Amino acid sequence: MRRKLAAGNWKMNGLAASLSELTALSDAISPDANTDVLICPPAPLLFRASDMANGIQIGAQDCHSNLEGAHTGDLSASMIADAGASFAIVGHSERREGHHEDDSDIRGKARAAHSAGLTAIICIGESEEERTTGKTLDVLGTQLAGSCPDDATATNTVIAYEPIWAIGTGKVPTQEQIVEVHDFLREKLVARFGDDGSNMRLLYGGSVKASNAATIFEADNVDGALVGGASLKASDFAPIVTALQAS
Ligand code: PGA
Repeated sequence: MRRKLAAGNWKMNGLAASLSELTALSDAISPDANTDVLICPPAPLLFRASDMANGIQIGAQDCHSNLEGAHTGDLSASMIADAGASFAIVGHSERREGHHEDDSDIRGKARAAHSAGLTAIICIGESEEERTTGKTLDVLGTQLAGSCPDDATATNTVIAYEPIWAIGTGKVPTQEQIVEVHDFLREKLVARFGDDGSNMRLLYGGSVKASNAATIFEADNVDGALVGGASLKASDFAPIVTALQAS
């Protein structure tokens, strides 16, 4: 059975004072042996967040594909691990668009994350135009194949399906669309990685909230969520965690 994962991505939001939300979150949820809860705060908060995590896992929102060197402003995977974090999101559509990252960059970042002992959350997702012109599965198949390194295992890799048009918009695919994509991704992962592909976690992300989480989590191949806006406040994120635990 796959462990469930509720992952929060704070993006470029949050100052030191926001770390009180971590305490509020650990107070609001009951630990569950089969569910991981993760918060990915901005990089300057990683050390402090890891110190006060209290059962909540901490992750970064990106990492460099090189392990060290002359890359001003970048973060290496080993620095992230050294700060006490255990995950790194790679390939978020905001990085693919805003920083022109492509599948091969993301594959390198995932490999770097693995070499530092981090679990990479590899994000893929189609644009609204790709969805409306019937290209969704083709686009996702290409992104999955290109972004996922050969050393991916069920332990060191999580895949997050995040339709770009659903991120921060309040728009969510229909449940049939979510099921179709997650079943397709599972098939591709099993074909490439065998048992690891069956056991690799698949998250849905894009406008997940307390009000729609339970329905989304009903899908067999949805093992959790990657949540942006609704992860910033413990009072919004805790009910999503609880819905996942109950699914
Ligand atoms: P959202 O963001 O929950 O605010 O839509 C999701 C994400 O970008 O990971």
